[in-house]
Amino acid sequence: MGSKTIDLLNILVLNGPNLNLLGQREPSFYGLATLAEIDAMLVREAEALGVKVECYQSNHEGALIDAIHRAGEEKQGLIINAGAYTHTSVALRDAIAGVKLPTVEVHLSNIYQREEFRHHSYIAPIAIGQISGFGANSYRLGLLAIVEYLQQK
Ligand code: DQA
Repeated sequence: MGSKTIDLLNILVLNGPNLNLLGQREPSFYGLATLAEIDAMLVREAEALGVKVECYQSNHEGALIDAIHRAGEEKQGLIINAGAYTHTSVALRDAIAGVKLPTVEVHLSNIYQREEFRHHSYIAPIAIGQISGFGANSYRLGLLAIVEYLQQK
């Protein structure tokens, strides 16, 4: 009897600039959880859902773009908190659109309750959807959303 390996869904969780400072950075907006704690929570949640996540953070736009290009080859979905690049980076949006990776945009804070310049996202129009305002839980909800989306496809 031959055994068949079932390939798990592989999802990249990408964090942009300043998110390495979570835990100490403006906790009234971003809470007290560190990025390492959020990543560990996502790995546990992914295991429970029967999928795989890889987490990566960079403060550099080009490194984020390279990670998106690699993910286009290796992963089935993307969860991204692009930090301030959300509001500025056509290049990140083009990278996601270019690799056609199903994407959920997440933010810890509710960007629509904050300064006007945070209300516009370059990524939202090419994402499946956006989750904003639930603190660290935004990532967990983002993971549920992308997994359900990919499993229904
Ligand atoms: C953020 C919101 C952005 O406006 C900000 O620049 C960040 C974090 C959030 O998770 O709430 O760096 O993406």
